[in-house]
Amino acid sequence: MNEGLVTVSYIAATILFILSLGGLSNPETSRRGNYYGMVGMAIAVIATVLGPKVTSVVPIVIAMLIGGSIGLTAAKRVQMTQMPELVAAMHSLVGLAAVLIGFASYLDPSAHFTGVEKTIHEVEIYIGILIGAVTFSGSVIAFGKLAGKIDGKPLLLPGRHVLNLLGLLTVIWFCNLFLNVESGGAGILFLVVMTVIALAFGVHMVMAIGGADMPVVVSMLNSYSGWAAAATGFMLSNDLLIVTGALVGSSGAILSFIMCRAMNRNFVSVIAGGFGTGGGSSAAALDGQPQGEVQPISAEDTAELMRNASKIIFVPGYGMAVAQAQHTVFEITKALRERGIDVHFAIHPVAGRMPGHMNVLLAEAKVPYDIVAEMDEINDEFAATDLAMVIGANDIVNPAAQDDPNSPIAGMPVLEVWKAKTSIVMKRSMASGYAGVDNPLFYKENNRMLFGDAKKMLDEVLTALRAG
Ligand code: TAP
Repeated sequence: MNEGLVTVSYIAATILFILSLGGLSNPETSRRGNYYGMVGMAIAVIATVLGPKVTSVVPIVIAMLIGGSIGLTAAKRVQMTQMPELVAAMHSLVGLAAVLIGFASYLDPSAHFTGVEKTIHEVEIYIGILIGAVTFSGSVIAFGKLAGKIDGKPLLLPGRHVLNLLGLLTVIWFCNLFLNVESGGAGILFLVVMTVIALAFGVHMVMAIGGADMPVVVSMLNSYSGWAAAATGFMLSNDLLIVTGALVGSSGAILSFIMCRAMNRNFVSVIAGGFGTGGGSSAAALDGQPQGEVQPISAEDTAELMRNASKIIFVPGYGMAVAQAQHTVFEITKALRERGIDVHFAIHPVAGRMPGHMNVLLAEAKVPYDIVAEMDEINDEFAATDLAMVIGANDIVNPAAQDDPNSPIAGMPVLEVWKAKTSIVMKRSMASGYAGVDNPLFYKENNRMLFGDAKKMLDEVLTALRAG
């Protein structure tokens, strides 16, 4: 394939990637968005492998077969709830690739740059390795935390901000030294020391971030992995890699921003870490005492309440994903709609454990898109709702976010289910949610608790509903 054809293929792939991102912004077009992305990536890979820069195709094809099989197996085996871990693991590989390509570019005997070109090339290498190393070690720690292999509590070293600042200054100083040596031994030494500092920074940064902020961290690492890929594109003079990296980098940054807004968290304070320690917590969380009596309800009585309602809003959360209850939820929805009951779903932007988690599950269960609403669209409707049914959600329906300025989640926008005539919370126990704070909703006068596994209890509700 000649250079011209490769360029045309790269332009086609770039357009498909942009269309893909556009498609992924809406559940109704997300499937199409995925296809655009797949076709774009296939074109990009084929054009690169058959392009003039590749001199021996066989080792690349072997590497692709090995890598592709590992990726396929991992993607097939992964549970929906483990998706963020898989994403973190994949980001770590992007970071590692940027580091390795950076060193390879520096050591490449065929590269002969002089003057300004040499400086630019070395800056690209330095920045590529720096971002790659932070992405790699940060993603490994994020994977460990999400997979429960590393404690989710933030690790706060004394003087950690000073440590980070010292690391940054050293990295900048070493960049200056690195750019002023002739290629060879001393240059490699500076690169290696910088890489070690960047790896330590990645570990330190993510270790300091608490479990509840992990979604933002994964999205931020996604953004870093994009910038690492873009830097690699500069090193290799590959336009497609630059554009694709920039798309991933900027969309990851935008997603991080959106998530911060959804949790009322400041991006800088998320990165500074320490969420969930100090700064106060709700009274109940402090002394561990329940705030009152909860009122349990049975599956039969839940079905009875449903039958008598004219409007019901379901609020799915992480527990629905754990229980894989989405198909039963859909069956109940069908049964209710057949009775003429108005049914809607309210989706909080950080419900579950990854962006769009609930939308994916509901789409899989074939719940119609037009009854699934985002938080901002539906929050005002709870007051005119007979029954708000919370399925394995906790933090996203916690009124303490509005009522208790000392709560660790104070200010986080939440779904106001307590404004419905009756709310029912389905969960297995009185355990707290991801943020580890008690939930006053459980003790409200108009709230009932349907205890048990969400799938099992909803099966019972469905049976009772059909029987009545
Ligand atoms: P959570 O606050 O984590 O609450 C989920 C609840 O589901 C738990 O209290 C748990 O109570 C219950 N549960 C678990 N397994 C269940 C089962 N089999 N059947 C019934 N209930 C079950 O979830 P949420 O309300 O969806 O809020 C999301 C939280 O995760 C937020 O704090 C958010 O910041 C954080 N987070 C979000 C993301 C993204 S991007 N979505 C990523 C990471 C973290 P029991 O143990 O008593 O059953």
